[in-house]
This record gives sequence, C-alpha cells and structure tokens, in this order.
Amino acid sequence: MNASIAELQRGFLTAAQITSSKTVMGIDTQLIEDGTYFVVEEGHEIAGCGGWSRRATLYGGDHTPGREPSLLDPARDPARVRAMYTNPAFTRRGVGRLILDLCERAAAAEGFTTLELMGTLSGEPLYSAYGFEPVERITDDRGGAPVHLVRMRKSI
Ligand SMILES: CC(C)(COP(=O)(O)OP(=O)(O)OC[C@H]1O[C@@H](n2cnc3c(N)ncnc32)[C@H](O)[C@@H]1OP(=O)(O)O)[C@@H](O)C(=O)NCCC(=O)NCCS
Repeated sequence: MNASIAELQRGFLTAAQITSSKTVMGIDTQLIEDGTYFVVEEGHEIAGCGGWSRRATLYGGDHTPGREPSLLDPARDPARVRAMYTNPAFTRRGVGRLILDLCERAAAAEGFTTLELMGTLSGEPLYSAYGFEPVERITDDRGGAPVHLVRMRKSI
C-alpha cells in the first residue's frame, strides 16, 4: 500500500499532495474483520488488494477521522468500494479490474444494486473504465495540501 500510494500517484499529485493523501488512504481493518477485503497474489508476492463494504464509511484508513461503521441498507444505499491498491510492479495487468469484479459480485449477492466510492485521481481511470460515473468532486485537506477526490457510482 505504501509503495502504491507513493509511486502510482506521482503522475497525478505533487509530492506535498502525496504526503497529505496518506491521511485519507490506507487500510480500514474493519474491512478485514468483515471478510470483505481481497488480496491478489502471484507466487509469494502481493500483486494488489482492495475490497468493498456494507458499512457507511466511504473512504479512509484506521487513522482517518470520521469513520462511520453503521450498516447500510442494500435496498436503499450503495455498497462501498474501499482501499484499492496495486503493487507498482503489477500495474495494468487487470488486478484492479479483478478486485472490482469480486467486489461487485459479493455486494450483489447481498442485495446491493449500486456501488459507490471516493476515488483518487490515480484511481479514476480504472473506475471509469469499469463503468463508474463521477457524481461529485471534492478536495480533502485534512492531511495538509488539498487532495482532489472524486465520488463515483455504478449500478450493478
Ligand atoms: C488505481 C489502481 C488500483 C489501478 O490498478 P491496476 O491493477 O493497474 O488496474 P488494471 O490493470 O485493472 O486496469 C484496468 C483498466 O483501468 C484503466 N487504467 C488503470 N490504470 C490506468 C492508468 N494509470 N492510466 C490510464 N488508464 C488506467 C485502463 O483502462 C485499464 O485497462 P488496460 O490496462 O487494458 O488499458 C492503481 O493505479 C493504484 O494502486 N493506484 C495508487 C493507489 C490509488 O490511488 N488507489 C485508488 C484509491 S481510491
């Protein structure tokens, strides 16, 4: 995750923004406890990771303020896609797309009809290619330099 954040955001953010983005990125261990987080491996190497959630928090890691663990209503609320990170040595090999597909199937199996996420600029091309549409652009400056994020949604 650290390598992914530091290296793969370089074309999209300044060094100050990458440092700032660490406040709103990383793992929320609730996803692991919930069994909704995937790790893709090749041999003994982690190629990437990412997951989904039936809880209200839209983005952020354990260290990010303002998480909201209440359960969503599949009939009314979109399931969340969370914490997508590909190992820089494994980019553009379909790891992100594979994880999104696993998330979509798992959320659909629980009755969700929509997915929502807060994407980084680095993540936006993947999410757009997968069928997500932007619904809101925000900046989060809780880590210092303002980081541009995009809330995106997809029907499933
Ligand atoms: C976003 C991220 C997870 C994408 O992972 P990935 O495993 O390389 O993505 P995939 O190989 O599944 O890409 C699928 C498609 O998405 C699009 N895409 C992915 N990365 C892209 C990029 N950097 N530029 C343009 N299109 C891209 C392409 O259409 C790609 O298909 P193609 O390779 O056949 O052209 C990865 O870049 C990353 O970890 N970024 C840093 C961390 C981050 O910002 N995560 C998102 C948090 S919301």
